[in-house]
This record gives sequence, C-alpha cells and structure tokens, in this order.
Amino acid sequence: MSEEFRMIIETPKGAVRLRKPKVEDGSNVWDLIGRCKPLDENSMYFNLVQCDHFAETCILAEQDGELIGWISGHIPPEKPDTLFVWQVAVDGRARGMGLAHKMLDALIQRPVCDAVVRIETTITKENDASWALFRKFARESDAEISDEPHFERGAHFDGAHDTEHLVSIELEAEAERSAA
Ligand SMILES: CC(C)(COP(=O)(O)OP(=O)(O)OC[C@H]1O[C@@H](n2cnc3c(N)ncnc32)[C@H](O)[C@@H]1OP(=O)(O)O)[C@@H](O)C(=O)NCCC(=O)NCCS
Repeated sequence: MSEEFRMIIETPKGAVRLRKPKVEDGSNVWDLIGRCKPLDENSMYFNLVQCDHFAETCILAEQDGELIGWISGHIPPEKPDTLFVWQVAVDGRARGMGLAHKMLDALIQRPVCDAVVRIETTITKENDASWALFRKFARESDAEISDEPHFERGAHFDGAHDTEHLVSIELEAEAERSAA
C-alpha cells in the first residue's frame, strides 16, 4: 500500500478501490451520508475537517470514480489504544457484499492503528445493520464484544435522539492468543 493506503478489492459487483480520503472528497462524503439513512447528517464543513485532519483513521471506497463507501474514525487522545468508529456508510447499490467489513478490516491494518487493541463505536438498539456488521467483525476476529448505554436519550440528548450504546470489541485477547 502507498502512503494513500490505496488497495483494490474484488467484490461480486467488480473491483473497488479503498483509500485514505483527501479534502476534495469531503463534499462527496457529505452527499453519501445524506443517502445512508438513518445516519446523522452533519455539516459539509464537518466532513471536510474529517477528510483533512482525520484522514489517517478514515477510509473510503470508490468504484468507477464514484464514492460508494465510507468509514470515519479517530483515536481519542486519552485512549491511544482505541479506534473509535464514528460512522459507517455504504451506498444502497453496494450493500450486502461485505464492503463495510472489508473497509473496517483495511482501516485496522494501517500503521496508525499499530497500538490499537480495541474498536469502539456507538449504535442505537434499532440499527440492525450496524449491530450485524460489528458482531460479525468481532466473530471473525475471534474477539470479545460488549455494549452498554453511553449517550442516553434523557441524560444527554434531551429526549431528541435514541440512546447510543457503546460497543467495545477487544482485539487484544485475539492478539495474545495468536502470539501464544
Ligand atoms: C451498515 C452498513 C454500513 C453495512 O454495509 P454493508 O457493506 O452492506 O455490510 P456488509 O456487507 O459488510 O455486512 C456485514 C454483516 O452485516 C449484515 N447486514 C448488513 N446489512 C444488514 C441489515 N440491514 N440487517 C441485518 N444484517 C445486515 C450482513 O448480512 C453481514 O453479515 P453476514 O455476512 O453474517 O450475513 C450499510 O447497511 C449502511 O450504510 N447502512 C446505512 C447507514 C448505517 O446505518 N450505518 C451504520 C451506523 S454507523
């Protein structure tokens, strides 16, 4: 992989390129997220900052020059061993062929994640696709997965949003087992 971490993966619908985003991708990311309900929509400015400042921990997928997949994440300053996944989005026409799983896999393999032993994300109880994605990732990594309420409807969202459950996937146990 080059510095842009470009890689080509084969899918049932043809070849897909995975790579690190650049600022010029920000508006297309914003557009993709708008097409991927029920994701929260942020400002285009927010996605530009993600592509600019958080590119190392974000990944996108494109086919025939079109953006079809996106994962944003960051390594929290106070938790250098944790990759926090903000949003995962796969265009409707590209779903069900393992693209989200492959993007997450490629992201965790980057050098910036060398010290990462845990993936965290938050999911609302109703988001079956998201639960399925992260449970499958944990299963295939032979890693433990747990969850607990984190950003709560009443205490944090003033009733305006369903409770987001903090999901933790402990990769360390898997790494220790592999080394044993
Ligand atoms: C969630 C999302 C990113 C999954 O993308 P994808 O590329 O289709 O996911 P994958 O093909 O890698 O599937 C991973 C697993 O999740 C399962 N899955 C995917 N969509 C599902 C759904 N709607 N309901 C139940 N399971 C689902 C798949 O079957 C697969 O498990 P399996 O191989 O054991 O069958 C995509 O559906 C999406 O963009 N949804 C809208 C936005 C969203 O909710 N994002 C997640 C919150 S951050």
